[in-house]
Amino acid sequence: MTTIGIDDMALATAHHVVDLADLAAAAGVDPAKYRVGLGQDRFAFPAPDEDVVTMGAAAALPIVERHGAAGIRTLLFATESGVDQSKSAGLFVHGLLGLPPQMRVVELKQACYGGTAALQAAIGIVSRNPSERVLVVASDVARYELDSPGEPTQGAGAVAMLVAADPRLVEIEPVSGLSSAHVDDFWRPNDSSTAVVDGALSMSAYLSALTSAWDDFAAHGGAGIDEIDRFAFHQPFTKMARKALRRLATHTGAALDDVLQEATFAYNRELGNTYAASLYAGIAALLDGDDDLADRRIGLFSYGSGAVGELFTGVVRPGYDRVLRPGAVPDALAARVPLGLAEYRALHAVQHPSDVDLTTPSVTKAPFRFAGLRGRARQYERTA
Ligand code: CAA
Repeated sequence: MTTIGIDDMALATAHHVVDLADLAAAAGVDPAKYRVGLGQDRFAFPAPDEDVVTMGAAAALPIVERHGAAGIRTLLFATESGVDQSKSAGLFVHGLLGLPPQMRVVELKQACYGGTAALQAAIGIVSRNPSERVLVVASDVARYELDSPGEPTQGAGAVAMLVAADPRLVEIEPVSGLSSAHVDDFWRPNDSSTAVVDGALSMSAYLSALTSAWDDFAAHGGAGIDEIDRFAFHQPFTKMARKALRRLATHTGAALDDVLQEATFAYNRELGNTYAASLYAGIAALLDGDDDLADRRIGLFSYGSGAVGELFTGVVRPGYDRVLRPGAVPDALAARVPLGLAEYRALHAVQHPSDVDLTTPSVTKAPFRFAGLRGRARQYERTA
């Protein structure tokens, strides 16, 4: 049987970083609430010339440079924070990367679950024709109102994945456990740049979707809990993954010692919530960690408010470490430019009407930038 999964992956983030210790000091909150209580240290914040397109294209660039575009006939762009109500953000990426016209390009949305919807659709396409490869881009800017409980869980980042047969990083196994329910736990109305959220309901909806998806996974012949060596969860904040593991241990009666490694938190603690990319940032961090994961099975849980949950598994391929780009993500995180609280609050408040031409200042050092609006159309350019 053809194995299909993640052949390569890369992560990009935003130009700026906000330190949660600064946010805590300004809010008069004990910094341990964010560092320990939420499990977050900092969050990435976009410059005025960055958005989900520039981050998504930056994440996909090293993959296209390494593998070329041959055989890539589909680009799936997953986001909760898209830049247009009609046109796929993927088409801007397609143009910026100079991909061939013989492709289908589409955007997928279901809050933070969109990245997994794109991955599973990509697997379906490759299983139909194993000579094809699919470029999946998950990119988001997580934004809540200033001074709201969600503010310390903001973030920004993108993960790009090449999905192919006989993958070099992680084979995705065929069984998925699914759970969908209509829940008003988190959403973003069309006229709002920030999410509306019921924090307590969102956490309980996440945990209900987890146990319900686990039961469906077990009912469909998924791996037993004792056959799963590691876990990676959607991480709106990293403490949520610890809550999820605890719930799964109670639900299954398994001890689940050692399956949730510190390594899987490393990037998410620094990025903040990256919605559709969050689970995949956790996987990237796990693979980049010190542990030898060859032939190990990873349990994966994806959650998108509203709400959809999917529990599935991936098996890490021998030789995966030769595909990784050592130091790339830590370097990108370290290169971010700190924002003071006043600058951050000013940038957060900026809202530009879509019917007025705009020229953005050149700030980002990323390979692509959002140059502004001309006749209501978004303009992007390569920076170098
Ligand atoms: N030292 C250490 N820990 C402390 C502390 C201190 N001084 N003070 C508080 N804490 C702990 C609390 O005990 C709590 O931990 P536990 O939950 O383990 O008990 C934690 O810090 C948070 O404290 P609160 O519950 O008081 O925090 P809050 O009410 O201010 O907000 C939140 C928490 C509801 C998660 C809020 O950040 C939020 O609304 N975030 C956005 C929504 C979200 O991320 N939901 C997650 C599930 S939905 C999802 O996954 C989809 C998605 O991406 C959005």
